[in-house]
Amino acid sequence: MSDRIVFVCLGNICRSPAAEGVFRAMFPQARTDSAGTSDWHVGEAPYGPMQSAARGRGYDLSDLRARQVTADDFTAFDLIVAMDAQNVARIEAVRPQGNETPVRLFTDFAPHAGADHVPDPYYTRDFDGVLDLIETCAAGLGKAVFSS
Ligand code: 4NP
Repeated sequence: MSDRIVFVCLGNICRSPAAEGVFRAMFPQARTDSAGTSDWHVGEAPYGPMQSAARGRGYDLSDLRARQVTADDFTAFDLIVAMDAQNVARIEAVRPQGNETPVRLFTDFAPHAGADHVPDPYYTRDFDGVLDLIETCAAGLGKAVFSS
């Protein structure tokens, strides 16, 4: 059972907290967290427009606070889920030697969605569109982790 999952994006104020909030609502048995590859927003709550869009679908992100990904995440979690390829590269840069914890793209869990990354709504401003994709990926990830 690999139920300890950390979601990672760049700022840890839009995509990864939304992914965590959706995933924990769908699969409350999971042990989740999220982090950013940057330290730009450490200590901050999720971005207001992201929180509002999530709240509109019943997801409360208000308890989440940004932090930066560290080497300890490779041992604290069974699976590291990244939003895009740049996240993957920056996560891999802090992998402890010999550690084999998988780092996967969130979109890999929803191949039918036809996306190879989760677009950043901080730039696109499409908060609802990204929530659609996050919900699809979260359902696929939960199926992969919890059913077999
Ligand atoms: P996130 O989005 O990686 O989905 O949290 C971003 C949030 C803030 C910034 C970049 C991306 N920023 O440049 O401050």
